[in-house]
Amino acid sequence: MLQRTQHLTKLYGVAEGHRIEAYERVGGYVQARKALATTQSAVVDEMKKANLRGRGGAGFAAGVKWSFMKPHATKPAYLVVNADEGEPGTFKDRTLMERDPHRVVEGCIIGCFGIGAHAAYIYVRDELHLSKERLWGAIREARAKGYLGAKPFGRDYPVEVYVHTGAGAYICGEETSLLNSLEGKRGEPRLKPPFPAQVGAFGCPTTVNNLETIAAVPTVFELGGEAFSKLSALHHLGDGGCRLYGVSGHVKTPGVFEAAVGVTLRDLIYDLGGGISDGGELLAVIPGGSSCPVLLPHETVSAPDEKSPLHAWHGKSVLDVPMGVDTFRALGTMLGTCCAIVLSDKVCPLAAMQNLMHFYRHESCGQCTPCREGTGWLDRLVTKLLAGEGTLDDLDRIHEIASNIMGNTICAFGEGASMPTLGFVRKFRRHFEDHVAGKPCAAGGRLHA
Ligand SMILES: Cc1cc2nc3c(=O)[nH]c(=O)nc-3n(C[C@H](O)[C@H](O)[C@H](O)COP(=O)(O)O)c2cc1C
Repeated sequence: MLQRTQHLTKLYGVAEGHRIEAYERVGGYVQARKALATTQSAVVDEMKKANLRGRGGAGFAAGVKWSFMKPHATKPAYLVVNADEGEPGTFKDRTLMERDPHRVVEGCIIGCFGIGAHAAYIYVRDELHLSKERLWGAIREARAKGYLGAKPFGRDYPVEVYVHTGAGAYICGEETSLLNSLEGKRGEPRLKPPFPAQVGAFGCPTTVNNLETIAAVPTVFELGGEAFSKLSALHHLGDGGCRLYGVSGHVKTPGVFEAAVGVTLRDLIYDLGGGISDGGELLAVIPGGSSCPVLLPHETVSAPDEKSPLHAWHGKSVLDVPMGVDTFRALGTMLGTCCAIVLSDKVCPLAAMQNLMHFYRHESCGQCTPCREGTGWLDRLVTKLLAGEGTLDDLDRIHEIASNIMGNTICAFGEGASMPTLGFVRKFRRHFEDHVAGKPCAAGGRLHA
């Protein structure tokens, strides 16, 4: 169900919308003022009612995550905002930083207060120059007004927000690598437990949230947690609110759009995305960033069990399932960042997969052997198949290697590389076999129409 909203994007078309005057004209900083006049537990309770699922990929409930933060006798707490945005096909967080940075700063103030922190670090990937500039500008403006600093809104609760620049490594989007990078160490994932809520930045209790998650916080307080949750068609599944949707690839109008949770892939591709470009038909869609297994348009939902989150869509096309954290997990894929990559039938699925494998091989941090070696093997095998030099044994080998990466690495990068691989090989088996037989598809190994 497509229900457009304009909470996160209300300043997107406004000239100078990134300035504090524009933000305050639309009610900016009122919620931080109100929240700081309440208590930490009241803030966390409101967040729990909102059913705001993390927008960074894993979909963990933000209110529940905040409730894990317990005061420590000697250590400070930190809020770390993840704006690394390295997932291929994902370009939503940068729009918030560029066009409405004060929403992020206000979210940081409320977030810091809610979790008992006095400092927030926003970790932004290096190449997002305008994003960093706009955030720094917003921080300066908020500080000048006294909304940041020793006594925000007159309350004796100091809050500072800092922008930290990453160096453009995909792995530094993974929260524990990000923490290492923030500390000036090599960006490699840490073993969990301990989780960041116990041992996070600089060994202190830390909440890591995606930037869009934090930008949604002022709206949670403006509408009230319950009303925010009920914007969503999936609030009964604990998946509330509105969010940013991205669509890219072979669509006529790629971009970022805001709507209530519950938009379907059909809405996203044909309505928001304007339909398939270059006169092609829909071949496949990767629903939420490249780590999510691919879906094909002819797939239907099999959910005879009444307890399944998908039961209401039993027998329907996967394109008609509302995009939610639990609905898409039950489909055998993931919602991820909610930014879909669309492939038309004018392109070769092997070429698309090779493109992804090349990326994962390049971005593996190398700490875990199955991932470091496995992504290299996968890239080499798919490249060989794409060149028409592969064998049917290579298909089995791809399956075996991807299966051996899964569950055998410190972080979820391994799954992010192997799950889409298995999806492509299973769902495009015929294409792979045709390449082996020397009869590549009509797209003939092309990635672009
Ligand atoms: C390889 C990898 C890359 C990731 N990249 C990002 C990223 O760029 N941005 C992000 O917010 N989360 C990313 N995540 C997820 C984070 O680890 C973490 O779950 C998220 O920042 C938590 O925020 P949320 O609960 O608000 O979604 C990544 C995870 C993995 C395994």
